[in-house]
Amino acid sequence: MVVAVIGANGGIGRRLLPLLNDAGHEPVGVVRSEDQFDTIRERGGEPRLGDLEDEFAPALEGADAIVFTAGAGGSTGWDKTILVDLWGAERAVRACAKRGIDRFVMISSRGAGDPERRQGPIKPYIVAKHVADRTLQRSSLDETILRPTRLTDEEGTGRVAAYFDEDPETGDPISRADVAQSVVTCLDGDATVGHAITLYGGGTPIEEALRPDRSTQ
Ligand SMILES: NC(=O)c1ccc[n+]([C@@H]2O[C@H](COP(=O)([O-])OP(=O)(O)OC[C@H]3O[C@@H](n4cnc5c(N)ncnc54)[C@H](OP(=O)(O)O)[C@@H]3O)[C@@H](O)[C@H]2O)c1
Repeated sequence: MVVAVIGANGGIGRRLLPLLNDAGHEPVGVVRSEDQFDTIRERGGEPRLGDLEDEFAPALEGADAIVFTAGAGGSTGWDKTILVDLWGAERAVRACAKRGIDRFVMISSRGAGDPERRQGPIKPYIVAKHVADRTLQRSSLDETILRPTRLTDEEGTGRVAAYFDEDPETGDPISRADVAQSVVTCLDGDATVGHAITLYGGGTPIEEALRPDRSTQ
């Protein structure tokens, strides 16, 4: 499949491109600056320009599936959280629906299933993720929503703890590498379509953990 990765220069995105290649996909890396094109090519992706706050839909042309792993990050203001994590994600969903791109994998966040359970400074971010997820769930697309807990740059273990359609509050951090591998596993079939899956670090091989009949480890 041609898989367009929005946020391809990010921590998860950079790790995802070579994994998609290894799995036989053709990754397209959607980035905000031509300065990032070499990095995308080095990782086996076809670079295309797209900015979620501006024009990005043409960069999705020809894609069979989209992975949304963009985010404003913790060092920007809540305005960017709204414009990128919420509005940008919703724009991506609508762009896919308009273009007939059916498969969408969203990188959301643990806690986004029920923002009322979260208090403190992170709550606006969790609300933004929740609303974007809901828009995707209400769309006609075949969606998988992955809700990882705190991300690390540790090496991947190939193992996670996955919770289908429940959003438990505690667990171990998870590496960006293991989230990237989980995305590839989701794209390998339709077992995760229609599910929101909370991901923690864990001990179950990813392929096994992402089968809906085995919902908790
Ligand atoms: N950090 C955590 O612990 C955590 C936990 C749970 C979920 N998440 C979610 O996981 C996802 C990926 O995390 P990460 O650590 O890989 O993020 P990251 O390294 O911060 O990467 C985010 C990417 O989004 C891109 N981006 C920002 N604004 C954009 C825009 N307007 N248009 C297009 N692209 C834009 C950035 O582009 P540039 O490279 O040009 O800046 C960057 O490459 C995010 O959705 C995040 O909210 C994070």
